[in-house]
Amino acid sequence: MESSMDLWKPVGTVKIRVYKYNPRKDFAPGWKEYEIEVSRGTTILDALLRIKEETDPSLAFRYSCGQALCGSCAMMVNGRQMLICRTRVLEVAKGGKIELRPLDNFPIIRDLACDFKSFFDKHRAVKPWIIRKDVEELENPTGDYKQTIEEYARYYQFTDCLKCGACYSACPTVATDHEYLGPQALSQAYRYIVDTRDDGLEERIAVVDSDHGCWRCHFATSCSDVCPKYVDPAQGIQLLKKLILRSKLGFKPHKPAEVLPSKIGEVKRG
Ligand code: SF4
Ligand code: SF4
Ligand code: FES
Repeated sequence: MESSMDLWKPVGTVKIRVYKYNPRKDFAPGWKEYEIEVSRGTTILDALLRIKEETDPSLAFRYSCGQALCGSCAMMVNGRQMLICRTRVLEVAKGGKIELRPLDNFPIIRDLACDFKSFFDKHRAVKPWIIRKDVEELENPTGDYKQTIEEYARYYQFTDCLKCGACYSACPTVATDHEYLGPQALSQAYRYIVDTRDDGLEERIAVVDSDHGCWRCHFATSCSDVCPKYVDPAQGIQLLKKLILRSKLGFKPHKPAEVLPSKIGEVKRG
């Protein structure tokens, strides 16, 4: 019978072809191939860490959590956007080979590490936080905002976004319009607008109902196809378009959340 230790027994070698480029030093991008021993459990992140430690300390790539939680490690694996910390080498190796390159649609800092500044600027532009007009209640809270399970379910899937950039990298509109807000930011705009605690409808519509906003999306869904958390940003954008049209007809996305007296600190007496 197979034991869990078998997952870590070496089973052979794989050739990993890696994009190498330092825009500050190199005249043109190039490729470098590394051959490493792998087991069934070896992830691409494990492989790159070993290459960096044992063979090429100059190799640049991003990662942090190693558990598909932080969104730092997305890159192109055999031409497709993936999180390398949760992708096993042997799952994707073709003919004993893997090709790694930085995410499409992002400027390159070095090798496999991309510059996320524009991506995060766009995310920030849609104000990804709860906007409230009742400043007095915020400053001196008298209770908690009531939200039903059904109201929570309207935006829950979008809270899983890791900001990994895979959707943005796969989007053909981002590729041709560098100012397009992109699937991540637009779906997050929807996530906050439909949150019953939020009062930011007009402020966000001013950002997303624009020349480089949601109407540039032609619903090809490449973004949703590569999302590692099944957020489905393409669906969020279509719901956002509907919400904008309804708001032009005078419909509000939700009733404001009621403030209920807080139960925190209440002592239960027998
Ligand atoms: S929507 Fe999905 S693919 Fe896009 S940034 Fe969020 S987690 Fe990544
Ligand atoms: S559905 Fe819209 S945002 Fe997603 S990849 Fe297509 S054009 Fe880009
Ligand atoms: S290292 Fe955090 S998601 Fe991969």
